[in-house]
Amino acid sequence: MKRAFVIGHPIKHSRSPLIHGLWLRTYGIDGSYEAIDVEPRALPALFDRLRAGEFVGGNVTIPLKEEVLPLCDTVDPLAKAIGAANTLVAGEGKVHGFNTDFVGFLGNLDQAAPGWSDGLDQAIVLGAGGAARAVLVALKYRGIGTIHLLNRTPERARVLANEFGGPLHAGSLGDFAALAPAAGLVVNTTSIGMHGTRFDGLALDRLPKSAIVTDIVYVPLETPLLADARAYGLCVVDGLGMLLHQAVPGFEAWFGIRPDVTAELRSALEAALGQ
Ligand code: ATR
Repeated sequence: MKRAFVIGHPIKHSRSPLIHGLWLRTYGIDGSYEAIDVEPRALPALFDRLRAGEFVGGNVTIPLKEEVLPLCDTVDPLAKAIGAANTLVAGEGKVHGFNTDFVGFLGNLDQAAPGWSDGLDQAIVLGAGGAARAVLVALKYRGIGTIHLLNRTPERARVLANEFGGPLHAGSLGDFAALAPAAGLVVNTTSIGMHGTRFDGLALDRLPKSAIVTDIVYVPLETPLLADARAYGLCVVDGLGMLLHQAVPGFEAWFGIRPDVTAELRSALEAALGQ
């Protein structure tokens, strides 16, 4: 039986076992997907088990996404650029690291708002932490003209913009109102939205009516940012789809079948999240 895992610390809140478990049942695969709590200092021992063939691979979540990179035998260029791996694939005594948050972000928007990047000239990304990196690499890859990276701590945005270069411009959250009228896409990569927190005075009313607002936070499914955007008549895309789509490449690599992100899967996740 092929065994895969999700590792993190803590791990009990991970929704990944639900997603992969449903796919394993749907496709009748003799495999398993388990959540394993791994402290950072226990990572080398887990890699030994991977190299020994105990697992076909697994997902990696907080706080291990960066820490696994130096332990991998190869790291995909995208994961290198993002600076983190969320997917490990083992074989022939080696471990390969990938980052599928990139495809997760793009897959979610492509499914929920087809054509979203056609002619998209300006985008605003809120936040400059670890979660912003996959989003920035994905937007650059889609050739967005200008990406405004706005952060509570503008210096952190500047450091990230300098690292990634190209169409990135750093600023503060206070710049939002001036930039909003020309923005076709707003992405929240901060933790604001969790636990009832909300942005203070973000001028969503200044966005064009055609703008799309998306959030990588998915608990709650409709964050205050998305609720406000919806009230202004904007197109909103929640973060649950990113979680579902980022799971696809790992499942395919481990179990040999490319799974579908279906309405049934989404409903199962929504029910589990208590929405
Ligand atoms: P992650 O890896 O999940 O992105 P992180 O690296 O801690 O986590 O980054 C969190 C992001 O959310 C940062 O952009 C942070 O802004 P700062 O760089 O100024 O800290 C942003 N963030 C968190 N809480 C915030 C708040 N209350 N208001 C504004 N931004 C916040």
